[in-house]
Amino acid sequence: MTNSRRAFLGGVTAGVVCSPLAAQLAAAATGESYWALVAGQFPLRPGKIPMNAANLCPSPRVVSERVAELIRDEDSDVSNPNRSKFNTFADESRRKVAEHLGVSADEIALVRNTSEANNTINNGIRLGAGDEVVLWEQNHQCNNAAWDVRAERHGFTVKRVAAPADVKSKEEIVKLFEAALTAKTKVLSITYISNTSGMRLPAKELCAMARERGIFAHLDGAQTWGYLKLNLREIGCDSYSASAHKWFMGPKQVGVLYVRKERIAEVWPGVVSVGWNKDSLTTTVASKKFETLGQRDDGGVSAVATAVDFHRTLGVENVEARTTALATALKQGLAGLKKVKMITPMDPGLSGGVVISQMPELDRPKMAALVKDLYEKYGIAGAATGGLRLSPHVYNSMDEVQMAVRAVKELLG
Ligand SMILES: Cc1ncc(COP(=O)(O)O)c(C=O)c1O
Repeated sequence: MTNSRRAFLGGVTAGVVCSPLAAQLAAAATGESYWALVAGQFPLRPGKIPMNAANLCPSPRVVSERVAELIRDEDSDVSNPNRSKFNTFADESRRKVAEHLGVSADEIALVRNTSEANNTINNGIRLGAGDEVVLWEQNHQCNNAAWDVRAERHGFTVKRVAAPADVKSKEEIVKLFEAALTAKTKVLSITYISNTSGMRLPAKELCAMARERGIFAHLDGAQTWGYLKLNLREIGCDSYSASAHKWFMGPKQVGVLYVRKERIAEVWPGVVSVGWNKDSLTTTVASKKFETLGQRDDGGVSAVATAVDFHRTLGVENVEARTTALATALKQGLAGLKKVKMITPMDPGLSGGVVISQMPELDRPKMAALVKDLYEKYGIAGAATGGLRLSPHVYNSMDEVQMAVRAVKELLG
């Protein structure tokens, strides 16, 4: 390891994670050179351009090296005394995540991913015949099919709301959901930003509507944590789920489940293991109830704190502003191409960092071939989800965004 890398990591161990980076960023010019310095923190293979944050993000070295350092430490001495520090590190991760999300550490459980967090909610709320659950039809499977499986077993009804592709305003969306709620509705379970259209729901307004009616409001935030500046208390959801390995650029296979303190007691846990005791059912501490998951990847859970520090060093507002600017430039570029139809709303208030476009001339296999060519010929890693899905993040440059637009144009001929 070089001395400079050691100094950088020395900061990690001491808990002042990114101060050398903070100093470099403070000294850097603004604009693209600032973001080039940020991109330099990621171990990206030359010629490869990740634009798939909606699926999986690279972590900055400071995070992946923290994971590796802790795994090596654990492997070098698996004794309980050596491993007891991981409890302290997990507490630190929960505390920092809570600060990042504007809630209290007692309301945060670090689970494995959004899928697990969503399923804890859809298996954990007491529901039966006569009850209704209202979903957005664009919810991810783990917040969609998962409810059907549960309904099959317990006899409640699942209703889905469709939002038109050419949606014009938040009010239009609120009205559609309002019309679906009845006296029987017990849960409203939605996605903040869709992974299949890039559309953003007015989460705050929808959660307020649910709260007024005593309906439990769950928010799948997989496409928001690490991109949007979030304050869950202000949004007013009863629970929120997300994965560290997406926009948050954190360790793989760690997720967050937030449950509002007043609601923790009524949600049953999905997994019960070591750490459970007679008080766990009535606890109002989320980790005590939803985190008895057996042996974890201790390095990953601990390194969540490092990832929060990285976000703070960049500035949470800066991350949101930069990612919005990249997504906007990408949308404008793609919308200007003849054979392209934008699916994601152009309005940043109705969208996020996920940019989806369709090419009406291309059937599914041809769309998959386009995504493959984008990667093989230009190194741009996107996805064929809802069309062509490109989701740039802070490690991408404006040049790369323009390159993606040119590449799509060339491939469409
Ligand atoms: C909205 C949404 N929810 C949940 C998930 C599942 O995330 P994970 O695989 O990390 O559990 C995804 C993955 O893309 C998603 O986009």
